[in-house]
Amino acid sequence: MSYILILYYSRYGATEKMAKEIAKGVLSQNLEARLRTVPPVGPTTEKLEPTVPSEGAIYVSKEDLKNCAGIALGSPTRFGNMAAPLKYFLDTTADLWFAGSLVNKPACVFTSTASMHGGQESTLLSMMLPLIHHGAVLVGLPYTETILSTTMSGGTPYGASHLAGPESKLALTQDEIHLCFKQGERLALLAKKLKS
Ligand SMILES: Cc1cc2nc3c(=O)[nH]c(=O)nc-3n(C[C@H](O)[C@H](O)[C@H](O)COP(=O)(O)O)c2cc1C
Repeated sequence: MSYILILYYSRYGATEKMAKEIAKGVLSQNLEARLRTVPPVGPTTEKLEPTVPSEGAIYVSKEDLKNCAGIALGSPTRFGNMAAPLKYFLDTTADLWFAGSLVNKPACVFTSTASMHGGQESTLLSMMLPLIHHGAVLVGLPYTETILSTTMSGGTPYGASHLAGPESKLALTQDEIHLCFKQGERLALLAKKLKS
């Protein structure tokens, strides 16, 4: 069995914290969790980044996507949408789409926002769109996770979420941590079932 790719962009670290909690859920199913990120992008330049970032997860490659057993895609909410660096990378994956490389792979999405009603669900849905085009099988969070009905912070049926506050400094709540774990666990479980 291969690995679950946890691919995220995080400018201030909140989405990265979620990625690490999702990884724990993946590991609980005895699957490797491969954390990968994408370089930042700017409107005026094609700045050449070093191949290896100075800190944190290394940059994703097409091979990481092609060979994984499942994908967790994460981004901060930006104007109710996924962040440009993640979209920029996804827009380079037409060759994988053409080859059907992600068809039937389970996939889930996660996000972090500054404000409670600042667009968590719309961002999660925006990340689902390219996954659907790629033929991935979307994995949400079922309401049998009863915390979904009681959380006063993040957590949606569309995917895990985190309310990070205006400076992106709030710690993950226990509810958010639990739902991240469950999302990783469910993704890994379904990856194994789909593989068999
Ligand atoms: C350009 C920009 C747009 C943003 N748009 C939203 C938004 O629509 N709703 C919201 O709640 N937060 C918004 N934020 C705040 C981020 O989503 C929030 O700080 C998030 O936790 C950052 O995640 P990170 O720490 O992983 O970078 C925006 C931030 C930036 C820089």
